[in-house]
Amino acid sequence: MISPRSQTQKRGNMDVRRGFIFLCCLIAFTCADPVKFLDCGSSTGKVAIVDITPCASQPCQLHKGQSYSVNVTFNSGVESTTSKAVVHGIIAGVPIPFPIPVEDGCKCGIECPIQTQKSYHYVTSLPVKSEYPAIKLVVKWELKDDNQKDLFCIEFPVQIVS
Ligand SMILES: *[C@@H]1O[C@H](CO)[C@@H](O)[C@H](O)[C@H]1NC(C)=O
Repeated sequence: MISPRSQTQKRGNMDVRRGFIFLCCLIAFTCADPVKFLDCGSSTGKVAIVDITPCASQPCQLHKGQSYSVNVTFNSGVESTTSKAVVHGIIAGVPIPFPIPVEDGCKCGIECPIQTQKSYHYVTSLPVKSEYPAIKLVVKWELKDDNQKDLFCIEFPVQIVS
């Protein structure tokens, strides 16, 4: 026979399980996995993590008219007083310059001068204009140091959707 006490306990367990499932869904929805990227020749730094939010599944679907947050965590192997971001959209193998609102990496979460063997978070926004075509493309994102060398160079696929 089931005593009233163990029934209460059972119900309690159910609530805990439901709460856990709910929490997992919430986490999966809000903090998606780091973006899978290709290193395209980071020569004076090393990339640790690339995050794009929101990006629920990969390749990231970028909706026209929305803005996305890009967060690249990297380690610097050089000293540099400046850092400049250069972004290209690679469409059918052809890199096309992709203008971003702020080119200066030192205004995107990086404290300049950049020091050797220090970890930095480059954080900026990527607005997706409504006039962009709804296509799949590869984004190539570079951050150049004083000598035009890449502190990081990453490539990741995205899909622009309406
Ligand atoms: C950027 O990503 C790193 C590593 O995941 C994290 O520690 C940091 O808080 C993020 N910064 C912002 C502004 O999201």
